[in-house]
Amino acid sequence: MREKESPDRVSSDTFSDRETERQAEPVLIDQMREDDCPAVHSLLTECFSRPWSVKSLEEMFVRQGYHNLVARTDGRLTGYIGILAAGDQADIINVAVTAPFRRQGIGERLLSALLALAGEKGICQIFLEVRRSNRAAIRLYEQAGFARTGIRKDYYEEPVEDALIMAWDGQ
Ligand SMILES: CC(C)(COP(=O)(O)OP(=O)(O)OC[C@H]1O[C@@H](n2cnc3c(N)ncnc32)[C@H](O)[C@@H]1OP(=O)(O)O)[C@@H](O)C(=O)NCCC(=O)NCCS
Repeated sequence: MREKESPDRVSSDTFSDRETERQAEPVLIDQMREDDCPAVHSLLTECFSRPWSVKSLEEMFVRQGYHNLVARTDGRLTGYIGILAAGDQADIINVAVTAPFRRQGIGERLLSALLALAGEKGICQIFLEVRRSNRAAIRLYEQAGFARTGIRKDYYEEPVEDALIMAWDGQ
């Protein structure tokens, strides 16, 4: 997956009622703020071999087309998702949940909130790339309605691996 966001704020209330029953601690899905960049960078460093730098993350706040959400658990940043939109299409640039908080529904909530936000923005198609071996992410996307549409040979580095291309057509 290409790893890049939106300065317009989403009210926390928009998502705060979507608590997942599996979660022990309350999780808030919220608009990412510029001062979240260092924490998002740390999360991406935990999850990816080539994480976005803090500077790259900050640039999203001065460019058009980025929409970013974060998950906060007891105030701690535990998840992140971002898209880059152009017209009525968008690419998911990053999805990550910190390891101790995985399998608690946070990834699913981030993706579902992002798809709802995309709908509000008039985005009707979303694409992504995912490592072929990343079963957890592929299942997450399939559950959310993404379909496999192709392969990009040797797309990833460190380690080299094919990417599965997946697409979502807004419902
Ligand atoms: C992929 C990732 C974001 C999922 O986040 P998560 O909060 O653990 O996901 P959820 O708990 O919301 O799980 C939603 C669904 O995804 C699938 N899933 C998640 N983790 C899985 C795993 N380890 N094995 C198999 N399926 C998994 C399941 O279908 C799950 O639904 P279920 O719990 O009802 O079975 C997380 O594993 C992660 O950050 N991985 C490292 C970064 C990464 O690979 N990002 C994707 C880049 S393309």
